[in-house]
Formats: sequence, C-alpha cells, structure tokens
Amino acid sequence: TSSPLRFDGKVALITGAGNGLGKAYALDFAARGAKVVVNDLGGNMSGTGSGSRTADKVVDEIRAKGGIAVANYDSVELGDKLVQTALDNFGRIDIVVNNAGILRDKSFVRIRDEDWDIIHRVHLRGTFQVSRAAWPHMKKQGYGRIIMVTSAAGIYGNFGQANYSAAKLGILGLANTLSIEGRKNNIFVNTVAPIAGSRLTETVMTKEMVDSLKPEFVTPLVVYLTHDSCEETGGLFEVGAGYFAKLRWQRTEGVILREANQVLDAEKVGVSTRQPDHLKFLFELSDDFSVIPSFGVIPAFGGLMESTGKIPGFKIDPT
Ligand code: NAI
Repeated sequence: TSSPLRFDGKVALITGAGNGLGKAYALDFAARGAKVVVNDLGGNMSGTGSGSRTADKVVDEIRAKGGIAVANYDSVELGDKLVQTALDNFGRIDIVVNNAGILRDKSFVRIRDEDWDIIHRVHLRGTFQVSRAAWPHMKKQGYGRIIMVTSAAGIYGNFGQANYSAAKLGILGLANTLSIEGRKNNIFVNTVAPIAGSRLTETVMTKEMVDSLKPEFVTPLVVYLTHDSCEETGGLFEVGAGYFAKLRWQRTEGVILREANQVLDAEKVGVSTRQPDHLKFLFELSDDFSVIPSFGVIPAFGGLMESTGKIPGFKIDPT
C-alpha cells in the first residue's frame, strides 16, 4: 500500500473554497495536515453579492475535525489580500488552487460588456492576481505548487459560454508560460478541467448525474499534483466521476509548400503541383500523429531548409 500524502507544514490557499469543488479541496488538504486559507467572496453564482458565512462554514467544519484553517472573504481580484492572509496567519504560502468561479451564460450576441468583463475579471484576472501575489514567496523558498482551473467549455467550446470559454482557456495560456518560468525554482503549475455536480452545474444536470459527479472524485488529482513528491508540471487534465486523463495538442503531418525561387501565395495552399496529396497532410489528423512539444515554427524552419535544398526530404522528428 502507498504511504499517505501528507501536507504537514504546508500552507494551501484555495480560492472559492466555500462551495462545491473548492470546499472539497480545502477539507482534504486540511485532513492531510495542511494549514488552509479558505477564500470565498460569498456571492451568488453570477458574481453579485458577498458575505462571510460561506467561507466561515468551511473553516468551522475543518476546525471541528481538528484541522487548521482561516477564512478570507476578498474577491480573487484582490490577489494580494488573499496571499497576505496566508502570510499573516501561517507565515508562508506553498500551494494555490485557483478555483473561484462564476457564470454568465448567454448566447453570443446577448453577452453584454459587463457579462464579458466580470467573467474575465474573476476567472482570468483573478487567477493572475492570486498567482502573481504568491509567486515571489514561492520563488524565494524554492517551492510552490499551483493548480489552474479550466473547463471543457474552454477546451472544446460550449453553446452559450463564449465569455467563460475564452477566460477559461486564457487560464491555460497563463499556466503554459508559468510552468516554464517556474520550473527552475521548483514551482510546478498544472491545469485541471473538472466535472462535478455543484451549484454551477446542478441546473443543467439531473439529480443522478450530480450524485455520480461528486467533487470528492476530482480532489485526488488536485491533491496529488500539489504534493511535493509530484514532479509533473505544465499538464492539462480532465477529471471527474473517478475518471482521470491527460490532454495534449495534436498537429497534422503538415506540408511544405514553399519552393526555391517560387512565390508562395494563397493559391498554393489549395493546389500544389509539388505535392498533389498536400491537403490531406495539411488538414487530416492521422491516428499516429506526431507530438511536437514546442512551437510550430520548427517545422516551418524545416520547410525553409528543404525549399533551399539544404536538407532533402527533411522530416519532422516527432521526438
Ligand atoms: P461553485 O459555485 O460551487 O463554487 C465556486 C465558489 O467560488 C463559490 O463558493 C463562490 O462564492 C466563489 N467565488 C465566486 N467568485 C469569487 C470571487 N471573485 N472571489 C472569491 N470567490 C469567489 O462552483 P464549482 O462548480 O465548484 O466550480 C469551481 C471551479 O471549477 C470554477 O472555476 C468552475 O469554473 C470550474 N469548473 C467546474 C465545473 C463543474 O462541473 N462543476 C466544470 C468545469 C469547470
């Protein structure tokens, strides 16, 4: 059997920890010995109102079970204040779970500026503010674990969620770069796309679905990824109902349309004398795709070299 994943001496800040997934994370971290900052603004699911009760209830529950927790009632838009609560009470910050969230679902043309802005302020800007406030402390101590929270709506799109989709995938963009910047300081950043029954989803889910999609089925991955024994960084995971999977981008085989001493224009994309089958290589994803864990300009450089005859038959190396 595996030894328990303990968080003794660690300080974890969970945003939006008054309900749903965040509450489940906070309870589990506390049960594993972490000192927890339970942040929650305490408003409604569309981002209006506020109150201290939501966070307090979770803190009370943690303390009743013998755990250590303190509440913070600020919006994630004020990231410094959340991190300051951790520093004032526990003297450090080790783990941040950027979980707080709201919805303003509307079909695209019905999205008002304020519906767009508040979703971006809470999800993307809030995640930025909280992470940036924690970053220098993590850097100084040479240790940090950050969880970003995206959504299937961001990864795949979803009807009526243009504002939310854009903000949620923006969070993945932030994570991609932070995982690169943090690596040398032992700050690891991973992103999860959870699915769970909560007040955000109960209106679109049946009771049966809500019951089979407990937040507690998501928690294990978040806890595992933030443990100091876990070296994973820059990952994107789908998680829910006991299912766990990692995602990656996929590129078609690609096609080099540039030829030496020839004009490269839009017509060449549609019709290539050089490679009659090229549209297949351009548009059709193959089963045994190559994954290139870096920028797409690398095959473009290859194309340049081939078109100038320097590397005949240059092929993209999938490693
Ligand atoms: P929830 O509504 O149960 O919990 C979110 C909590 O965040 C609430 O307690 C709310 O008061 C708090 N909050 C909202 N705005 C805040 C702010 N500005 N500052 C501090 N706290 C704030 O929602 P749920 O379902 O637990 O969602 C948690 C996260 O997971 C969200 O980021 C959501 O977008 C994401 N997610 C959830 C999915 C699901 O199936 N439940 C699916 C995909 C993503």
